[in-house]
Amino acid sequence: MRIDVLTLFPQMFEVPFSFGIFKRAIDHKLVSTNLHNIRDYTRDKHHTVDGYPYGGGSGMVHKPEPIFEAVEAIKSDICAKEKTSALPIILLTPQGRPFSQPIAQELSRYSHLILICGHSEGVDERVREHLVTDEISIGDYVLTGGELPTMVVIDAIIRLLPGVLGSEESPLNESHANGLLEYPQYTRPAVFRGWSVPEVLLSGNHAQIAKWRREQIIRRTLERRPELLDKTDLCLEEKQLVERLTSSPKESRPSFDKESRE
Ligand code: ADE
Repeated sequence: MRIDVLTLFPQMFEVPFSFGIFKRAIDHKLVSTNLHNIRDYTRDKHHTVDGYPYGGGSGMVHKPEPIFEAVEAIKSDICAKEKTSALPIILLTPQGRPFSQPIAQELSRYSHLILICGHSEGVDERVREHLVTDEISIGDYVLTGGELPTMVVIDAIIRLLPGVLGSEESPLNESHANGLLEYPQYTRPAVFRGWSVPEVLLSGNHAQIAKWRREQIIRRTLERRPELLDKTDLCLEEKQLVERLTSSPKESRPSFDKESRE
C-alpha cells in the first residue's frame, strides 16, 4: 500500500514512522509513506497556505490552490507508475464520518490512499466539494490539526495489511475486530499479589476456555459498550446469556469504575 500525506508539519510523522510495527511495515515494503509539505505547492513568494475567511470570522482557512496542486501532482505520479482505479482522497476533520474498525478494514483494501491533514479553523469548502472523496473524524473533540488523526488512521490501517503483524499478533481476535470488545487476558504469574488467574484458563480444556472467553466478551461488551451488541449477530446461547445478565444486573456489572474494584 502507498500512503501519501499532505501536511504543513511533515516532521511530526518522523517519530511514529521510525518505530515498532510502523517501521517494520515500511522496512519490509508492505507500506510506503510519502510526506508532502502543502507549503511546497504554493506559488507566491510568501508561501501562503491560508487566508482570512470571506464574510469575516475568527481563524484562518486553508487555501484551495496548494491542496489541489499537491493532490493532482500525487495523482499523476501514481498514475504514471501504475494503473489504479480507485484512489481515496481523505480529509481528516472533526466534521468527517466517525472512524471505526470497519472503516479501517475498508481502507486497508486499497492500494493507495491520500490523506490530507486539515486544520481545525477550516479548509476552503471547494476542497471538500471538488477534491476529497471522504472525510474522517477520529472522535467528537477538536484537535489542533489533522496530523494526529492521520497517524491514528494510518496505524489502524497498516496493522491490518497482510504480513504486517506476526501470526501471534493476529488482528482477528482483538477488540472491535468482530464488533465486540475483547476478553480479559492474563499471563504469568498465576497468582499476583493474591489475585489469581481464573481457574478455567489453567485447566488446559480448550473447549471450556473458548466458552469462557466468548462469555467474557459478551459480559464485557454489555457492561461497557452495550450498543455494540445490537449490531452483532449472536447465537441462541449468547442471546440467552445477554438476557440472563440484563435481568440480573448484579451478576452483569462488576462495576466499571475503579473504586468499586478495590
Ligand atoms: N482535526 C481536528 N480534530 C479532528 C478530529 N477529531 N478528527 C479528525 N480530524 C481532526
